[in-house]
Amino acid sequence: MVSVDQVLSTLSTVIDPDLKKDIVSMGMIKDIEINGGDLKFTLELTTPACPFNDEIEQDVRNAIAKIKEVSKFDLKVTAKVMEGRSLSMDEMLPTVKNIIGVASGKGGVGKTTVSVNLALALAQTGAKVGLLDADIYGPSVPLMLGMGKSAMEVDNSKLQPAESHGLKVVSFGFFAEQAHQAAIYRGPIISGILKQFLVDTNWSDLDYLIVDLPPGTGDIPLTLAQTIPITGIVVVTTPQEVASNIAVKAFGMFQKLNIPIMGVIENMSYFICPNCTTKHYVFGKEGAKRMSDKHELAFLGEIPLNPGIMEGSDTGRPVLVTDPNSPLSQSFMVVAKNVAARCSVLASQLSEELKAEVATQK
Ligand SMILES: Nc1ncnc2c1ncn2[C@@H]1O[C@H](COP(=O)(O)OP(=O)(O)O)[C@@H](O)[C@H]1O
Ligand SMILES: [Mg+2]
Repeated sequence: MVSVDQVLSTLSTVIDPDLKKDIVSMGMIKDIEINGGDLKFTLELTTPACPFNDEIEQDVRNAIAKIKEVSKFDLKVTAKVMEGRSLSMDEMLPTVKNIIGVASGKGGVGKTTVSVNLALALAQTGAKVGLLDADIYGPSVPLMLGMGKSAMEVDNSKLQPAESHGLKVVSFGFFAEQAHQAAIYRGPIISGILKQFLVDTNWSDLDYLIVDLPPGTGDIPLTLAQTIPITGIVVVTTPQEVASNIAVKAFGMFQKLNIPIMGVIENMSYFICPNCTTKHYVFGKEGAKRMSDKHELAFLGEIPLNPGIMEGSDTGRPVLVTDPNSPLSQSFMVVAKNVAARCSVLASQLSEELKAEVATQK
């Protein structure tokens, strides 16, 4: 007969590569059932978008294979996204588990393109995802998702997010007039409007809320980043931006505000020539990766320069929807999985900090 202790002590040798902790103490093993030599349990991963899902599952199978008393093994793999929530988020957004801000040093680097496709990629893994377009200078999310201006409704004094390809979407762009006026307001007023957007929206349960922040390091992005209880920021950059040090300025601002940075995404990294199918690093190779290494930030992946991305964005048909299995979509999927992994790491740190905070209050 196999014992629960035996199973748990064997499984405690399996380490989650991201969280660097064993899967037993992370609480990933659930519903153990033992019947003689029959063993059954659930492996609950911290995100369906974990890049190491297969590796962890294989490690679990290898570990169990070493218990000679197990004659039959039945493994169920599920995922429950960890909560990367601070105390202020509890009050503002009790049904949202993680908020990921997408920022950039300047406009035009593909921040919205990345936000939209990142949200779609996460949703395709099975996560519940919302997208808040907080870029008051250019609220282009509705356009990229092919949504009309009147897509949002008010129900019981709460805003009902519009739905698109499984995403819950709220945008300054849905309120054309406000968006137009917003551009002349200063930070505090904008952040008040945004706070209302966040709190007065019926998001329902979300694993990830992606926020497309305004570009740059001015008053408005700074105030907004402080208004939203962000789990972490991803910085979108291009090889040219890296070369001109603009990206460093962007994440420097968040570091000063003590907002965690999940990592850097390089957009328009290379061009795949349709004739010879090789990658051409037109603007130099791995600039953003070197910059990330230098500043001890995670590098989350590179997205090619591709006319299909632009056409998809301009016509409201993102590549992740029209051609989800293409290499182009896969490049977004790699980024999304890396973002989800970093998010789990931050969520696990936050939960430790919260525990410590609660303990000191007792
Ligand atoms: N990887 C890419 N390849 C080709 N065009 C891109 C790529 N990323 C973004 N674009 C295009 O560049 C323009 C700016 O992108 P956008 O996402 O709106 O930038 P931002 O939100 O940073 O201002 C858009 O026309 C978009 O379709
Ligand atoms: Mg934009």
